[in-house]
Amino acid sequence: MTAIVIDGVDIAGKIRKTVSNGVKQLAHHNGIRPGLATILVGNNFASEAYVNSKRKACDEVGIEYFGHNLPDDVSEIELYELVNELNFDSRVHGILVQLPLPDHINSEKILEAININKDVDGFHPNNIGKLGMKNRTPLFVPCTPSGCMMLLEENSINISGSKTVVLGRSNIVGLPVGMLLLNKDATVTFCHSKTKDLPNICREADILIAAVGIPEIVKGDWIKPGSSVIDVGINNTWISHDDDREFTCSSSEKTFIAHYQSLSDKGNRRIIGYLCENSGDVYSSENLPKDIDKNGLVKLVRKNKLVGDVHFDEAKLVAGYLTPVPGGVGPMTIAVLLQNTYNSAKLMYS
Ligand code: GUN
Repeated sequence: MTAIVIDGVDIAGKIRKTVSNGVKQLAHHNGIRPGLATILVGNNFASEAYVNSKRKACDEVGIEYFGHNLPDDVSEIELYELVNELNFDSRVHGILVQLPLPDHINSEKILEAININKDVDGFHPNNIGKLGMKNRTPLFVPCTPSGCMMLLEENSINISGSKTVVLGRSNIVGLPVGMLLLNKDATVTFCHSKTKDLPNICREADILIAAVGIPEIVKGDWIKPGSSVIDVGINNTWISHDDDREFTCSSSEKTFIAHYQSLSDKGNRRIIGYLCENSGDVYSSENLPKDIDKNGLVKLVRKNKLVGDVHFDEAKLVAGYLTPVPGGVGPMTIAVLLQNTYNSAKLMYS
C-alpha cells in the first residue's frame, strides 16, 4: 500500500485565492482593507522565519501588514502596552503575538490582553474556552488545528466515530486539535510524555495527529494500515557534510559543528557562526558582538533538513493518507491566519 500524500500547498492555495478575492470585494464595496499586526520578541530563528512568511502571505492577498519586532529584554509592561495600542488601532483587525515568548514574560497575561475580536490566533481563554465547551462557538479557532481539520475534511476522511490519537497536548496544537476532533464526534486519546506504550496506542488510531516536535518519532510500525496521518512537526535536523568540523566560540567557549560556506553547495544550509580571518576569532551566531561588521567575516554554515514527527518513507508504505513536511500542515497554518484576519475585518463592519 502507498499512502495518498495530502497536498497542503494546493489546499492552502485555494484558501488564499478565496481570501484574496474577498479582500478585493471588501475594498471595492466597503473601502476596507483588512490588517494584521504581528509581534515578534527577540530573534529566535524559527519564529523570525514564521513571521516572515506571514508578512509575505499578507502582501500576496492584499492584507495590510504591521510587523513589530521587540528586543528579547523588552519588559512585560511594554509588550502589554503595545498589545493595547493595537487593540485600539482601527487599521488592525488581527493581532498575533508570536510564541514562545521569553521566560520573563507571562504569556498568559499577554494573550489575555488581546481584544477577543482581534484574536485571530484563537488563543485568548475566551476563544479557546468556548472551543472546549459543548454548544459554544469561538470567534476564532487556532490556525494550525483548524488547518489540520481542513486537510481531513478536504480529503473526505471520516472523523465521526473514528478512533483518533493526538500526540502532544500543547496549547497551540495538541489540545485545540483534540477538542476540534471531539466536536466532530471522534473518540480522542491524548498522548504525552507520561503515556505508556505509545506505539500500541498509535497503532489503534484511524486518525493520528503527530504534534510533539520530536523528529520522526512515529515509525511505520506505529501506524494502522490505511489510517490517516497528519504530521504537524517541523523539526530542523542537521545533515553531516564532509567538511564539517568543530569550532570553539572565542567569547563563550561553546563548541559547534560547521564548515566554511565556500565549501558548501547552495540549498538548505544555516549560518551557525563567523570567523574573523585576521584575528582568528570565532563567533557562534548567538554570540556575535553587536558592533562587528558581518560582511568582513567568513560565514560558517551547517546543512539542515526539515523533517516532521513522522518517519515519512516508512509511514507512506502503511498509511492511507499522509501529510508531507514541508508542504502539508505548514502552509495551512498561514492560510487559516489570513482567513481569520479577513473574517475579523468583515465581522467588524457587518
Ligand atoms: N508559534 C508556533 N505556532 C504558532 C502560532 O500558530 N501562533 C503563534 N502566535 N505562535 C506560534
